[in-house]
Amino acid sequence: MPLPSQSSLKAFRAALLDFVDDPFHMPISESVRYFPDGLLVIEDGKVKALGDYDRIHAHYPNVPVTRYSDKLILPGFIDLHLHFPQTEIIAAFGEQLLEWLNKYTFPAESKFKNREYAQTIAQFFIQELLRNGTTTAVVLATVHPESVDAFFEESNRLNLRMIAGKVMMDRNAPDFLTDTAASSYQESKQLIEKWHHHQRSLYAVTPRFAPTSTREQLQAAGELLREFPDIYLHTHLSENVDEVAWVKDLFPECDGYVDVYDRAGLVGDRSIFAHGVQLTEAEFQRLSEAGSAIAYCPTSNLFLGSGLFNLERVKSPSSPIKLGLATDVGGGTSFSMFQTAGAAYKIAQLRQQKLTSFQAMYLSTWGGARALSLEDQLGNFEPGKEADFIVVDFKSTPLMSLRNQAAIASLEDLADRLFSLVIMGDDRAIQATYILGELAYEKDSTLKKP
Ligand code: GUN
Ligand code: ZN
Repeated sequence: MPLPSQSSLKAFRAALLDFVDDPFHMPISESVRYFPDGLLVIEDGKVKALGDYDRIHAHYPNVPVTRYSDKLILPGFIDLHLHFPQTEIIAAFGEQLLEWLNKYTFPAESKFKNREYAQTIAQFFIQELLRNGTTTAVVLATVHPESVDAFFEESNRLNLRMIAGKVMMDRNAPDFLTDTAASSYQESKQLIEKWHHHQRSLYAVTPRFAPTSTREQLQAAGELLREFPDIYLHTHLSENVDEVAWVKDLFPECDGYVDVYDRAGLVGDRSIFAHGVQLTEAEFQRLSEAGSAIAYCPTSNLFLGSGLFNLERVKSPSSPIKLGLATDVGGGTSFSMFQTAGAAYKIAQLRQQKLTSFQAMYLSTWGGARALSLEDQLGNFEPGKEADFIVVDFKSTPLMSLRNQAAIASLEDLADRLFSLVIMGDDRAIQATYILGELAYEKDSTLKKP
């Protein structure tokens, strides 16, 4: 499919915010980049220049400028873990992880054998991401290869940078949802050959979690990682107390949950582990050494009663672990990264920890890109980066309008306004979403469909 034409220069004028270092470890003055009246210049879908409007515009006097008054432009959000086939079962009542999987999730995922159904949900899901300002996500499909095809066909139609993979699951799940070690290897391999680096798509080998894979299947996943060194490994890890106990029973020879994955060669610097709520200190150390990433899923961890994530430990300066924020829909309760960040703030409060609004926005943008080793491609506005960005409205509800009346005169003011988004913001705060410099979603207008 030909890429949309983006041959000419264009520019966007608004307040601009991105991150150039980690605000968990560096002062705001060195990690946050902010232009109160900024100009973002795009050429061929990539960032060409950014800075103060007056200075940059003087270099590009003829560039057409789209102006967003009283708005903030941010890099597009990166959601480090969610399930497109669970879109319809969001907000399923009453269970914790293992019962929730059996009662709601597996029946919902069985429907994705039907290619048309998978396509319908993939389309809805991707529109929902764009409505919430999420431009890159790490997505589980189901065990059916058709579900991966449906997802990537839609994400490629819109030219999105997405990471996804077929779930591998050869035990402890209903027969209609299981594959085998051999079939999962073959099907995953075919999907990698078909989709990895096809347009902007990237593939993640996706064993669901240790309890639903045999040792043979985990070994097969490791074999794929050795054969295709730049694909990802994406799975769940140490989410719930009963799950951790079950893993101990199923793999008595292993020294804990991380070790189960380690023995199969699945713990590396392109591995993304969702949750990590119940990890031991030795396991944190191992993930830090390996350069693996944790996808922090706060709304899901609350909704499924899994536990309170130890943010301070994960970001400890002496042995930090790569981290991004994740909605984990449908265990998570919202597609909005603002809502997700708000839940993370409240969990930090319950643990006597802190999550600032700059830290939350970092995790949702450049932190996520770094967790995915995509920081050279996207996540901030350095020239040459892919121009996926969002336009944010601080006044998207009457109450936010009242709260955020005063002008932003300092970085402290900006932190305060961003905090109101973290606590009160949702899809209504996303005015527009741009993919490679092209409008892909705009609030209050019909969705632009290329
Ligand atoms: N662990 C294994 N599968 C799942 C899932 O679908 N959702 C969540 N939250 N945890 C899991
Ligand atoms: Zn999940």
